[in-house]
Amino acid sequence: MSVAATTSPAVGTLYVSRFPTSRGMPRVTMALRSNVVSVGSILTKLQKDCATPFPVIRHVADSMTADMRAGLAVDGGSNLKMILSYVDSLPSGNEKGLFYALDLGGTNFRALRVQLGGKEDRVVATEFEQLSIPQELMFGTSEELFDFIASTLAGFAEKESEKFHLPHGRQREIGFTFSFPVKQTSIDSGILMKWTKGFAVSGTAGRDVVACLNEAMERQGVDMRVSALVNDTVGTLAGARYWDDDVLVAVILGTGTNACYVERTDCIPKLQGPKSSSGRTIINTEWGAFSDGIPLTVFDRDMDAASINPGEQIFEKTISGMYLGEIARRALVTMAEEGSLFGMAVPNKLSTPFALRTPDICAMQQDNSDDLQAVGSILHDVAGVESSLSERRIVLEVCDAIVRRGGRLAGAGIVGILQKMEQDSKGTIFNKRTVVAMDGGLYEHYPQYRSYLQDAVTELLGSETSKNIVIEHSKDGSGIGAALLAATNSKYDHDF
Ligand code: BGC
Repeated sequence: MSVAATTSPAVGTLYVSRFPTSRGMPRVTMALRSNVVSVGSILTKLQKDCATPFPVIRHVADSMTADMRAGLAVDGGSNLKMILSYVDSLPSGNEKGLFYALDLGGTNFRALRVQLGGKEDRVVATEFEQLSIPQELMFGTSEELFDFIASTLAGFAEKESEKFHLPHGRQREIGFTFSFPVKQTSIDSGILMKWTKGFAVSGTAGRDVVACLNEAMERQGVDMRVSALVNDTVGTLAGARYWDDDVLVAVILGTGTNACYVERTDCIPKLQGPKSSSGRTIINTEWGAFSDGIPLTVFDRDMDAASINPGEQIFEKTISGMYLGEIARRALVTMAEEGSLFGMAVPNKLSTPFALRTPDICAMQQDNSDDLQAVGSILHDVAGVESSLSERRIVLEVCDAIVRRGGRLAGAGIVGILQKMEQDSKGTIFNKRTVVAMDGGLYEHYPQYRSYLQDAVTELLGSETSKNIVIEHSKDGSGIGAALLAATNSKYDHDF
């Protein structure tokens, strides 16, 4: 699809919108246009600035590998924190009993319980409750956030049905999925390094998040114990591995993004003290902080500058669900301001940060109709925009450029991890079936993103090798995975 350049109006004029307001009166907007540029040239520049041809994705994959090594050598050795998860053994399938999981990660908070029945019966029963996290809690105090978690857990635990059995005299155990950068100090403790994904809760950074939860559970009268603290990637890896022994990497592509993988302990120079008996451990890369060689546009730079963590999480800001819609919105606002896309006035709604969400651009990209009717109504509903067919086409091109870059960079990141593993253990990754377990709403719901990701993996690995790499959605892996890790790390005798 190509878009012809449009001409712009004169500079410094009082514009009267050609679209009526809901009351039928013309909307009047003062818009002083200093830089008169055509929509076509803004689009061309956007496409050029965020292009990811082969040399770019090759560079990103290689830099990812190099940064992983630097982060494994010494703490602070690279942007990638390469956090030791203290998960040295993955679920075997023999786990039995009742376990809980809590999942605090992005948009939602989830509490879950599972009755595990061992090799034969596997997952006997599950129940869960999911709530969206109230906006004000994302900017409140640590006590408020953890009290919310503990009180939701208390309410959920009260509804435990007779399908679940806890042996007499035992405390209920929890796998706590906490999806932010945490420096683990053991399997059941870890210090929050910083918030990501728009969270700015005061008083948690620098504290042990399990202690925060324990204090809140005490305040709320909940008698449970956290036996495993895990990142969502680690939970996903454990959950997927429960069903498939070939799973070695897990990636989250949702509100935020991250990846973890199974590493050999002799490849971790910074690992001091006793090594795990399995000779393996899971490393949480925190790849959202990666930044080397990422093609950025002016819209990315502006969004980053306006964020609560400028200069940080650059990979996350170019590939994850929290940001793709916002980058597109910023591009469209510039096109409206400087090139009169959508007419003479810049629609107010479109000027609101984060008004256009990633699910909106995803829904627009699924519109195959001739007149792009769904694109038109989404633009109208979320951005207050009346659009012509050619304007809708431009919007789709903007979305596609951003989503294509996101998917391809994510694919390059995955190849970076796989090639690091392959270099250290020749032939054990690329010459056999290796599974990358994927989770997160962006990956699950965005077909174009998924196929751009797969394209980049195939381009980088070649069609033969990439047949061995299975990139697979692992629905709800992280919840059950955390409960499984609570079982593996239970303080009670394992009868498995
Ligand atoms: C966090 C990670 C998390 C990822 C996906 C990132 O913002 O730093 O810890 O795994 O989001 O939820």
